[in-house]
Amino acid sequence: MMTPMAKVKALIVGAGVALGGSASADGMDYETVTDLLHLVMSSDRTVYTRMIVNRLAVEEGVIKASEHFEDDKALVLPAQMFRFGSEMVAEETDEFSYSLLSLWPINKQNAPTTPMEKEGLEYIAANPGENFYGEEELGGETYFTAVYPDIAVAEACWACHNDHKDTPRTDFKAGDVMGGVVIRIPM
Ligand code: HEC
Repeated sequence: MMTPMAKVKALIVGAGVALGGSASADGMDYETVTDLLHLVMSSDRTVYTRMIVNRLAVEEGVIKASEHFEDDKALVLPAQMFRFGSEMVAEETDEFSYSLLSLWPINKQNAPTTPMEKEGLEYIAANPGENFYGEEELGGETYFTAVYPDIAVAEACWACHNDHKDTPRTDFKAGDVMGGVVIRIPM
C-alpha cells in the first residue's frame, strides 16, 4: 500500500517524465520542478481569465474587472490575482517564490530587480517560444531561476496595456512577449 504522500510523489515524478524532464526516484531536477509549477500557475491564470473574467465581464456583462476592484466593486485583474497568490505563497514558504515581471511594467513593483531577472526577460523577449533557465547568487545563497514568456494572446492584453496611464510602452501587439513569470528555488 502506498501512503498518500508516496502516491503524490509518484504522480509528480510521473508528470515530470511525461513532460520530458529527467526524473528519478531520488527526485526531480530543478527545471522539471519549475516547469510543473509554471504549468499550474499558467493554467490557473487561464481558467480565471476565461471562466471568471471573460465569461462574467465580457460575455454576460454582469460585473466588470477593474484594477481598482475595491472602489469599483469589481473582479480583480488576472495579473493582480496572480500577484496576490504569489504574495500569499511568500508568507508561507521560502522553498520557492514566483512573480510576473516585465521590462515594461505598468506596476513598478513588477520590474526586474536582479541582473538574472533582467537577463531572463531580455532572453525570452529576443527568443520567442523559449524559456530561460539560470543560476544566480543572492545574499550568499545560490538559486535556480527560470523565466517563462507571458504572451499577448488576446486584444484585451495589448489594448489595456498600451492605453494604461502608467505603461512605459504603448506599441504591444498580437504575439508579443509582454513579460515573464519568474520562478526561483534555493539550491
Ligand atoms: C484591463 C486591463 C488589463 C488587461 C486586459 C491585461 N492586463 Fe496585464 N496588467 C494590467 C495591470 C493594471 C497590471 C499591474 C497589476 C499589478 O498591480 O501587479 C498588469 C500586469 C501585467 C504584467 C506584469 C508587468 C506589469 O505590467 O506590471 C504582465 C506581464 C501582464 N500584465 C501581461 C498581460 C497579458 C499577457 C494580458 C492578456 C492575457 C494582460 N496583461 C491583460 C492590466 C491589464
